[in-house]
Amino acid sequence: MDNMVIGAVKTYFITHYNNSPLLIKAPGRVNLIGEHTDYNMGFVLPASIEKSIYFAFQKNDHKNINVETFLSDPEKITFYIQGGNEPFKAGWGSYFKAIIQILLKKGYELHGFDCVFGGDIPIGAGLSSSAALCCGFIHGVSQLLDLSISKKENALIAQEAEHLIGLNCGLMDQYAVLFGKQSHALFLDCRDLTHKYVPINLKGYSWVLIDSKIQHNLAVDSEYNKRRTSCEKVVSIVNDRIEPLSSLRDVTQEHLEKIKFEVNPNDYKRAKYVLEENERVLKMMDALEMGDADLVGRILLQGHWAMSKDYEITTPELDYLVKTGEHLEGVKGSRMMGGGFGGCTINLIKTDNLESCLDTIKNKYEEETTIECEIYQLEIGDGVHVIKN
Ligand code: GLA
Repeated sequence: MDNMVIGAVKTYFITHYNNSPLLIKAPGRVNLIGEHTDYNMGFVLPASIEKSIYFAFQKNDHKNINVETFLSDPEKITFYIQGGNEPFKAGWGSYFKAIIQILLKKGYELHGFDCVFGGDIPIGAGLSSSAALCCGFIHGVSQLLDLSISKKENALIAQEAEHLIGLNCGLMDQYAVLFGKQSHALFLDCRDLTHKYVPINLKGYSWVLIDSKIQHNLAVDSEYNKRRTSCEKVVSIVNDRIEPLSSLRDVTQEHLEKIKFEVNPNDYKRAKYVLEENERVLKMMDALEMGDADLVGRILLQGHWAMSKDYEITTPELDYLVKTGEHLEGVKGSRMMGGGFGGCTINLIKTDNLESCLDTIKNKYEEETTIECEIYQLEIGDGVHVIKN
C-alpha cells in the first residue's frame, strides 16, 4: 500500500465505519491508438495506468447501500435495494444507481453494504475515470457479496451503465481497466473480445501525457453518440446495397467507394476514418514489435490529424499541443486520446530531450491559450484487483 489516496480511503473508512474493509484498486486507462473503433467491432490498443480509484467496502446489517466519496467534493448517498431511489442528475451517484439496477435485473442477490472511495484520476481528461468507477465498484460488490461476476460480465454491466446514462460507448475502457497488465498494452479485438499483451517500452524513449485541461463530458456532449450513428448509417447502406454485414469491421474500402455518393459526405468521411484507424492499430503493433520509434511516432501523428480533420473530435487546444510537438526535435509523435473534445494527448518523446521538449510545449501552450497544461509520466499498472491489507 504505497499510495496516499488508498491510505486516506482506508483511514477514513476505519474511523467512520470501524472495521477492516475489503480494498479494491481500479485504474484509469490510456489508449495508444484505435479511437472510436471499439463500437465498430475493430481493434484498440489501450493500457491500464497507475492513476486509480480506490474503494473500501464492508457488509452492513441494513437493506441500504451507503456510498461516500473522496473523489471531488465529499458527498454521501444512500441507495435502497428495494428501489425508490431518487434520480441522480450527474456524477458518480448515477453510475452506481445504474449498476445496482442492472445487477438486480440480472437476478444477483444484493445485501446492504458501506463503501468509501477516492482517487487520483483527473475527471474529464480522457483517462476513463468512469470505467474505473464502474468496474471497480462492480468488482468490489462481487467480491464482498460472493456474486462471482467474471471480468467479461463486469465489463458488459459497466458498459450497460454508461449506456443508461447516455453514452453509447464500446468496450475498450472497461476491458483496459479490467484486463490491464503492468508495463504492457492490451491489444483487443472488439469483435470476438480476444486480447493479447504487447510490451510498449521503446529504449531511449518516454511515453508522456499532456492534459490540455479542456474537460469533456461525453455523455452530455452527444457528439460522441453522433459519430456512432454516422458509422451505423454507413453500415446499414452497405448492408442494403451490397452485402449483409453488421459492423464497419466488415466494410471494405471498395464497399465505401461503391456507396460514396449515396451517403452523406460526413458519414462517408467518418466511416473511412474508422477503416484507416483499424489499419493504424495493426501497423502500430508491428512498429512496436520492431522497436521502430520513428514509425510509432508517425502513426500517432497520422491518427491525430485523422481525428482532427476526418472524424472531427479534437479541439483547437489539442491540435495546438500536437502541432507544437511536431516541430520539436525529440518529439516522435503525439495524438489526442479517448472519446474526444478535450482531455490529454499521449506523446512519445526521446528521453534525452524530454525536459526541454515538455518545457517548450508547456510555455507555448500557455502563451497561445492562457491555460496551464499538466504533465503526467505514463506509468502502466495492473487492472482492477483486490489490495491485500
Ligand atoms: C470513450 C468510450 C470508448 C471509446 C473511446 C474512443 O472512451 O468510452 O468506448 O469509444 O471513447 O476510442
